[in-house]
Amino acid sequence: MNIGLLGFGFMGKTHAYAVQNLNFFYRDLPFEAKIAGVCCAHEENARTAVRQFGLGRVYANEDEMFADQSIDVVDICTPNHCHYPTLKKAIAAGKHIYCEKPLCVTYEQAKEIAELASVRGLTAQVVFHNRFLAPVRRAKEIVDEGRLGRILSFHASYLHSSAVDTARAAGWKQDRDYGGGVLLDLGSHAIDLIYYLCGAFTDAVGKAQIAYPARLGVDGKPWQTNAEEAFYLIGTLECGAVGTVEASKIAPGTNDDLRFEIYGEKGALRFDLMNPNYLYYYDGTAPESPLGGMRGFTRIECVGRYPLPGGTFPGAKAPVGWLRGHLGSMYAFLSCVHRGVQATPSFTDGAHVQWVMERAYESAGS
Ligand SMILES: NC(=O)c1ccc[n+]([C@@H]2O[C@H](COP(=O)([O-])OP(=O)(O)OC[C@H]3O[C@@H](n4cnc5c(N)ncnc54)[C@H](O)[C@@H]3O)[C@@H](O)[C@H]2O)c1
Repeated sequence: MNIGLLGFGFMGKTHAYAVQNLNFFYRDLPFEAKIAGVCCAHEENARTAVRQFGLGRVYANEDEMFADQSIDVVDICTPNHCHYPTLKKAIAAGKHIYCEKPLCVTYEQAKEIAELASVRGLTAQVVFHNRFLAPVRRAKEIVDEGRLGRILSFHASYLHSSAVDTARAAGWKQDRDYGGGVLLDLGSHAIDLIYYLCGAFTDAVGKAQIAYPARLGVDGKPWQTNAEEAFYLIGTLECGAVGTVEASKIAPGTNDDLRFEIYGEKGALRFDLMNPNYLYYYDGTAPESPLGGMRGFTRIECVGRYPLPGGTFPGAKAPVGWLRGHLGSMYAFLSCVHRGVQATPSFTDGAHVQWVMERAYESAGS
C-alpha cells in the first residue's frame, strides 16, 4: 500500500513513525505499507521530511497527490479546517483515507463526508487512536461482558496545561478560524472513548470557558482569544447513563491527562493515560465482609498485552515506555561514538555490577 501523507507536523511525524515500525510490532504482516510521498503547506518542510525519513517523494499540492494512481491511501494530518475540503477531494479520487480527528469542524460537514465515503465504498478511519490502548481494549471487553451491568454514569476528562502561559504565542489549535478550540481538539478524544465504551450519545449540553482573552496570536502579535480554552459538557447516552466530559488546556500540572471513570449497577472502571499500564476495575458483586471481604478496585495489568499478531514485540510484559529507554540508550552511545568520547554506563560500570553479582554468588555458594 502506498500512503500519501498530508502535513508533516506533530501528527505527520507520528503516523510516519507508526507505518515505518509496523513490522516490529505486528508479526508476519500480510501486506506491505509505506509512506510513498508527502505534501506540506510549505514544500520545503515536505522536502526535509522526505530526505530525513525516507518518505518517497514530495507532492507540490494535494491535487497532484490525489491524481497519482499509485497512491492507495491518503493520510490527513493537516489542521482541522483543512480536513473537509481535502476529504471531499480524496473521496472523489477514490482513495482510502486515514484522517486525524476531529473529522471536520462541523457536524454538517462530517455527516456529508461520512455519506460520501460510504457511497464510494472506501475504507476510512478517524484517528481516535486511544481506542487501541491495551487498557481501553480491556475496558471494552469488561463492559461488553456485562460486568458493569447497566451503565449509570461516566466522567471523562482530557486536561493539558499548554494554554496557561499567555506569553507563548497561540497555535492554530487555539484559533477558531483554523478549527481550533479545546472541545474539538481534546474533547473529541474523550467523547469518542465514552461512545466506544458505553454507546451513542442522545444529547449534550455544555459551557465553554476562555480564561485568558488577551494573548499573543498565531503571528505573535497581540490577539483576542476566539476559541475556548476549556469546555464542560454534560451528556446523556442511549443506555440512559448521564455524565460529564471536561476538556481543558488551562490545567496547570497536567501533561497528557486523559482519564475516564464509568459507573454501572454492578461495578466501575477507571483509566488514566498518565498511568497507561493499568486499568482499574471494581467488581461490586465481590463478597463483602466486616473487614472488607474482596471489595476494592483491582489493578489489571494490561501493560503490552495485544492480541496476535501484535503483542509479541516488545512483549506482553513490557511496560509502556520501555522501548523509549532503549532509544535513549542507543542515542547516548551513538552520540558518544560520533563525538569521539567515552560513553556511560561504561565497561568499568559493567564490571562493577559483575563484581557485585560474583560476591553474591560466592556468598550463596558457601
Ligand atoms: N490523535 C492525536 O493524538 C492527535 C494529536 C495532535 C493533533 N491531532 C490532529 O492532527 C492534525 C494535525 O495536527 P498537528 O498537531 O500535527 O498539527 P501541526 O501544526 O503540528 O502540523 C500541521 C501540518 O500540516 C501542514 N499543513 C497546513 N496546511 C496544509 C495544507 N493545506 N496542505 C498540506 N499541509 C498543510 C503544516 O505545514 C504542518 O506540517 C489535526 O487535525 C489535529 O487535531 C491528533
